[in-house]
Amino acid sequence: MKKSPKLHLSLLLLVLICWGLPSAVADETTDTLDRRPDVIYVPTPQAAVNRMIELAEIQPGELVYDLGCGDGRIVVTAAQKHGVRAIGVDIDPVRVEESKENVRQAGVEALVTIEHGDIFDLDLSEADVVFLYLQPRLNERLMPQLAKMKPGSRIVSFEFDMGNAEPLLVERGRFDELSERRIYKWVVPWEDKTHPDWDIYMTEP
Ligand SMILES: C[S@@+](CC[C@H](N)C(=O)[O-])C[C@H]1O[C@@H](n2cnc3c(N)ncnc32)[C@H](O)[C@@H]1O
Repeated sequence: MKKSPKLHLSLLLLVLICWGLPSAVADETTDTLDRRPDVIYVPTPQAAVNRMIELAEIQPGELVYDLGCGDGRIVVTAAQKHGVRAIGVDIDPVRVEESKENVRQAGVEALVTIEHGDIFDLDLSEADVVFLYLQPRLNERLMPQLAKMKPGSRIVSFEFDMGNAEPLLVERGRFDELSERRIYKWVVPWEDKTHPDWDIYMTEP
């Protein structure tokens, strides 16, 4: 029996659908970490790392995080200087391997853990100190997670502000040959910059 062009078309469609199905299923189940980082890797100059750690006022027994840990220097330095537990998280597997190697070389494996993960999936309620070097919009997106940190916990960000959160301190410094940079510090719970009382100062005379 001769097949009609319509039947040919239907068979072709079926083959195409079946061919595409496994990859569609595979895409759905693909590791969610298999995506591009939200911001590229740029290391914080070591002089700024040292200053950020001073400003964080890390206490014995505290738990420190670096969200988007890059080469892991921040968590390594915190562990070396204060003997505290520190967790570095990065979505880029290359950075994770680099961090792990730096942890090994520094001999702080007992204190520092490097995780391959997405910072937006983290429960930060146990963190005492969080370091950031991301972007303003990413800092802002992290605010619901950061707000769950314990009262008195510190957030220290290189370069970038965080939405409506009023920083306790903004320090300007020259940490490398580039221009002046900023370090921001907040203590949880932070003040809201858009305080309703500010309206009285803004009203026209
Ligand atoms: C500007 S670098 C900062 C590196 C390091 N914290 C430092 O200060 O030297 C930002 C890092 O965040 C990582 N990153 C970007 N988006 C991420 C995400 N959603 N989850 C985890 N890491 C992420 C990048 O791979 C990169 O290593």
